[in-house]
Amino acid sequence: MATLEIRDLHVSVETENGTKEILKGVDLTVKQGETHAIMGPNGSGKSTLAYSVAGHPKYTVTSGTVTLDGEDVLAMTVDERARAGMFLAMQYPVEVPGVSVSNFLRTSATAIRGEAPKLRTWVKEVRTAMETLQMDPAFAERNVNEGFSGGEKKRHEILQMELLKPKIAILDETDSGLDVDALRQVSEGVNRVRETGEVGTLLITHYTRILRYITPDFVHVFANGRIAESGGPELADKLETEGYEAYTTKGGASA
Ligand SMILES: Nc1ncnc2c1ncn2[C@@H]1O[C@H](COP(=O)(O)OP(=O)(O)O)[C@@H](O)[C@H]1O
Ligand SMILES: [Mg+2]
Repeated sequence: MATLEIRDLHVSVETENGTKEILKGVDLTVKQGETHAIMGPNGSGKSTLAYSVAGHPKYTVTSGTVTLDGEDVLAMTVDERARAGMFLAMQYPVEVPGVSVSNFLRTSATAIRGEAPKLRTWVKEVRTAMETLQMDPAFAERNVNEGFSGGEKKRHEILQMELLKPKIAILDETDSGLDVDALRQVSEGVNRVRETGEVGTLLITHYTRILRYITPDFVHVFANGRIAESGGPELADKLETEGYEAYTTKGGASA
């Protein structure tokens, strides 16, 4: 079983006012088959964690380690991370003008599987996955994320995850901006992938709403650039009633 290990991760970005440390010692272990929810207030560094693990060039790792089965993830290029089985669904997915969803998916699958999927089975695979996500087949011919609604962007992310079958998936606010139907479809997609037992999921969210559809094995409260508390699903219930205040007031993680 694949294991992602994040140890004492410190990450900075360059801003107009100099270097700013955002992650201040993150420790987290995610194993294939497990679902972890990372919950925290806006600005606490959740997306920075996702981007840093995925290899976004804007984020500089100043100390700490990230390994996948003992392999140094931080030494890998973004492509190598994907081939190693890591997947990131971004909070704000980017447009890829001139590239259709169908081409994008096939190119990604080819890169990750090491060979082009056989056309006939592939077309069927994509069609089935799209049907399950209740996506219009015409969607496959549209340019990636161009003019997509919030819900379409998120469903497209889940479609990628279902087809690419990562070992570790990081879903950054996949729930934000979704209406109830889209939230349910997206959650069902995450649960389907989860039931295979072959993906470790890091579900990053600000709201407890998605946790009505997806029950995490572990819940972590993220505040001030680090994990302030970890627990089971009951921790999400506590956050639902008490909010994040106890974690964000001066002195921080003393809840
Ligand atoms: N590229 C960047 N340049 C400058 N500041 C950034 C950048 N990315 C994130 N930050 C800052 O780091 C903090 C954490 O941001 P982020 O990781 O997006 O938090 P979250 O996802 O928890 O809302 C915020 O104060 C944000 O403004
Ligand atoms: Mg964010």
